[in-house]
Amino acid sequence: MSAADLSSLRGRHIVLGISGGIAAYKSAVLVRCLVKAGAEVQVIMTPAAREFITPVTLSTLSGHAVITEFFTANTGEWHSHVDLGLWADAFVVAPATACTLAKMATGVADNMLVTSYLATRAKVFVAPAMDLDMMAHPSTTANLDTLRSRGVDIIEPAEGELASHLRGRGRMEEPEAIAAALARHFAAAGSLASRHVMITAGPTRERIDPVRYIGNFSTGKMGYALAAEAARRGARVTLVSGPVSEPVPAGVDVVRVESALEMLDAATRAAAEADICIFSAAVADYRPARPLAQKAKRESADRDITSVELVKNPDIAATLGSARRPGQVMVGFALETDHEAEAATAKLARKHLDMIVLNSLRDPGAGFGTDTNKVTMYFADGRTPVATTLKSKADIAADILTQTISLT
Ligand code: CTP
Repeated sequence: MSAADLSSLRGRHIVLGISGGIAAYKSAVLVRCLVKAGAEVQVIMTPAAREFITPVTLSTLSGHAVITEFFTANTGEWHSHVDLGLWADAFVVAPATACTLAKMATGVADNMLVTSYLATRAKVFVAPAMDLDMMAHPSTTANLDTLRSRGVDIIEPAEGELASHLRGRGRMEEPEAIAAALARHFAAAGSLASRHVMITAGPTRERIDPVRYIGNFSTGKMGYALAAEAARRGARVTLVSGPVSEPVPAGVDVVRVESALEMLDAATRAAAEADICIFSAAVADYRPARPLAQKAKRESADRDITSVELVKNPDIAATLGSARRPGQVMVGFALETDHEAEAATAKLARKHLDMIVLNSLRDPGAGFGTDTNKVTMYFADGRTPVATTLKSKADIAADILTQTISLT
């Protein structure tokens, strides 16, 4: 059997709740599996779980201190179940004992695991592990039904020899299979299969004469990273690109343009068919009113360029944002140097977008030409803004698409 594809776990925040059953020893392998696949894992143990496996093993494997109590005894530091619940992209309880399942189903929040479960908005998985008679008991069945009806995924226990030496159903699913179930969830949730994504990228050049133009420092790296990530997630991608030297990512259709007017034309055409439009181009706001057909000359009064009259370019994002079809998702960028949040949210509304990605030029490592970025995403539906740390533009692209997909 080939190893499961766990690549969708990369960068995910996973809270692993461990309750007190003999299968807790397998949780160490699960942590290892998740961390190896690139996930960040925070372990919460019930007090009983500590009888089966030591927190030291789990904190060493996860790289995070294991949480058991509401407070750290010697320092009085409070562990926020709400913060942990919100941090999680997935919340998995493995092993889930009959007792923990019952507490989850009825909301008995007397330990950190159940309290965090009640506070999380993430997808929840439970991998039950118990003796066969406990597993078959009507109260366990009823609790699992309750959890299932609330959207919890039950990773069904396997048949086999149990700790009691009896044979039957109740053995916790193998760690690799639990990791694979999480990976399948993230892969499906992050998929753009059968979606058409249009992305504008790079600068525009506005001709003054055949050899000179007005432009900007955009390198197109962020837009190209978005195109690569959208294609990797199965989308049909049309990249409307200004002049840049980035290689075109595999599986991406590129439409090359030079000026803002050409970009508007190509983007309008692509947007007619696109489900998602992302405006990452640094479009020149102005163009010369009368570009010269011949090269301007230093010593020629009728063809000098001591001054250039400018006219405003169309706003591509605003034009397509106000002409959007129902269900079409529109994402823009805002590059700001001051009053960042206000400026970004004002642009979000003005351009009729669903989400705006703020780049602050005040952040070192963010903005034009760098391979890294750090952004904050603001939403038209009023949900809490999402801020990233400084990371590669490829990882930022993944974060932007994950948020974008949540709007579709
Ligand atoms: N944008 C666009 N067409 C333009 C100008 C901007 O499509 N003519 C898009 C950008 O791709 C980006 C968003 O609008 O997604 C915001 O771009 P930005 O340059 O930050 O905003 P402007 O509207 O140009 O405002 P200002 O320069 O005054 O900050």
